[in-house]
Amino acid sequence: MALRQVLIDGDETLRKKSREITNFDDRLQTLIDDMFETMYASNGIGLAAPQVGVLRRLFVMDLHDGNEPIVAINPQIMDAKGTQTYQECCLSIPGRYGDVERPAELVLRAYDRNGEPFEIKASELTAVCISHENDHLDGILFKDKVKGELLSQ
Ligand code: NI
Repeated sequence: MALRQVLIDGDETLRKKSREITNFDDRLQTLIDDMFETMYASNGIGLAAPQVGVLRRLFVMDLHDGNEPIVAINPQIMDAKGTQTYQECCLSIPGRYGDVERPAELVLRAYDRNGEPFEIKASELTAVCISHENDHLDGILFKDKVKGELLSQ
């Protein structure tokens, strides 16, 4: 495993749309392992592939809430319902945070690292994080959606 460099806001790669993953090969497994290592080293709870310069539809998450870490490949968000506002931050926008409105509930449909499909019904912080990471795959950053001001730490 190896740490990858996290791209910072201003890098054009963060604004590009990621492509679907079709090969569940060794290279993908290494990328996933590296993304977890990079996320943990940065004390993050989620990291999307474009943040490490790979324009592929993949994100990893670990909320440290007793649930298993999540690997979501080619994710789709279904049945988004309601709204919740949460103060978000992002490893690609260091030191900044702000309130973002997200779905209160959603269903994540994706493939795991072995290419097996799965579905997770999510709410609260899990739904926030899924929505935030999924946005990265379409070149959207949380600061685009901040209600009011983008604050500094
Ligand atoms: Ni982010």
